[in-house]
Amino acid sequence: MKKIYEGKAKILFETEKKDILVQRFKDDITAFNGEKKDEIINKGFINREISAIIFTYLKENGIKNHYIQSRGKNEMEVLKLDMIPLEVVVRNIATGSILKRTWIKENTEIKPPIVEFYLKDDSLGDPLINKSHIKAMKILPDETIEKIEENALKTNTLLKKFFMNVNLIIVDMKLEYGFANNEILLGDEISPDTCRIWDIKDKTILDKDRFRKGHKNVLEGYIEILERIK
Ligand code: ADP
Ligand code: TMP
Ligand code: ASP
Repeated sequence: MKKIYEGKAKILFETEKKDILVQRFKDDITAFNGEKKDEIINKGFINREISAIIFTYLKENGIKNHYIQSRGKNEMEVLKLDMIPLEVVVRNIATGSILKRTWIKENTEIKPPIVEFYLKDDSLGDPLINKSHIKAMKILPDETIEKIEENALKTNTLLKKFFMNVNLIIVDMKLEYGFANNEILLGDEISPDTCRIWDIKDKTILDKDRFRKGHKNVLEGYIEILERIK
């Protein structure tokens, strides 16, 4: 397969079908825009599994996404998307970067959830931007931004329920969207690399914050999430 892109956590390959890509989940783990790096054997497999389960659930509940099927140990076939250069973050509980930008206190429940847009540009450090910036850069017209915001909130509502069923809380998440045949689809991955997920009872961190904060047993958190949702 011809490699068309290698990022920090995944590699994209072309397939014999021009509208289908293979997305390979790497064992590499990074944080703070790649400043902190390591390799965690099997993380790629676990994230592929978690992402596949979540994309399947979302599709069954009306959220169109790029997932087609899993293949091999750490790959999935996806619809090729023309990616929108935005990271859409939805927050249910205040933690992480929002604590540095607002007066919202750590661990406060955010109701209704906050939706934020970040410009996906590593050279600028993925800055927080608003709808006017998106319009001024001509990334998307107003009505498409509104559609994406609505989709992100619906996805959040579904994922809150999904995780609640297995006694987990989805604290926040980062979503990415792209176009295929003029339709907007949810793409990329939905995994503990891109969401914060806590145990409902003792609020144990099970996601990439373990790595960001220098805790041990990062993979054990990811495995715990997979065991509960599968
Ligand atoms: P990064 O680029 O931030 O280092 P990754 O290592 O996760 O991140 O790389 C995966 C890349 O693939 C991302 O840039 C993402 O926007 C892009 N992508 C995700 N899904 C698709 C898709 N279905 N079609 C095309 N590109 C995609
Ligand atoms: P933040 O609190 O650091 O802004 O992160 C919000 C959510 O977005 C959290 O679930 C982690 C996720 N995220 C990514 O997936 N990629 C990123 O580059 C960043 C900064 C956050
Ligand atoms: N996604 C970024 C990185 O991998 C930042 C983060 O997740 O903390 O470096």
